[in-house]
Amino acid sequence: MQQYPLIVALDFSSGHEAINFLSQFKDRRLAVKVGMELFYKEGPDFVLTLKEKGHAIFLDLKLHDIPTTVERAMRQIGALGVDMVNVHALGGKEMMKAALKGLQDSVKEGGKMPLCVAVTHLTSTSEAMMENEIGIETSLNNHILHLCQQVEEAGLNGVVCSAEDVKMIKKAYPNFYTVTPGIRRATDVIHDQVRIMTPSEAAIAGSDAIVVGRGITRAPQPLEAYHLYEKDWRSSHVSK
Ligand code: C5P
Repeated sequence: MQQYPLIVALDFSSGHEAINFLSQFKDRRLAVKVGMELFYKEGPDFVLTLKEKGHAIFLDLKLHDIPTTVERAMRQIGALGVDMVNVHALGGKEMMKAALKGLQDSVKEGGKMPLCVAVTHLTSTSEAMMENEIGIETSLNNHILHLCQQVEEAGLNGVVCSAEDVKMIKKAYPNFYTVTPGIRRATDVIHDQVRIMTPSEAAIAGSDAIVVGRGITRAPQPLEAYHLYEKDWRSSHVSK
């Protein structure tokens, strides 16, 4: 996964649409994110189809359950041979350790160890919501850092977070692999994202990988848009 810093979110309602989209890229191998919508529609077989085409896969299912259930689910997910998976850090340290154990067990059965990252707080969670609805009375940033500590102690590879939080997170956890959605080129439509960054801004902030959905999938020329996102991301590495 680390070789592919630009991850395309396959937010389509069917495998047919996703394959149609990917056909524009001919034989090019991409990093793609399969989320709940596509996975619940098409199931594990579709993940295997994408793998056969040589794509690196981030299976974004955000597991959050009791440790035993997560361990057993990760054992199944690991067997699919995906490249990155995730859990909610709010499930706790034991749950995160159980996720790793499930993945490690699948490796023993012939799978390969994917990166395992955690979602701290969703980017849709506001400070007011955290206090009034979830009942956590500290700042959002403090709580994100608190959860990062649990992620590190559990031994996961890093976090999915807003590009705006990467600097703060990397300062405290320099070895974390950080995956950041909410990315748009300066000239693109923002859609429903609130806090966005361009690919090069995210790279400068320290993101290791960016997730881009509609900026590429809904672009009039997706292939061209993909190249522009790639170029924007790379430009920061030239100027660093
Ligand atoms: O289309 P867009 O680039 O906004 O899509 C971003 C992708 O990243 C979507 O699949 C969305 O669900 C996901 N995501 C996000 N914010 C998070 C976590 C995941 O936008 N905090």
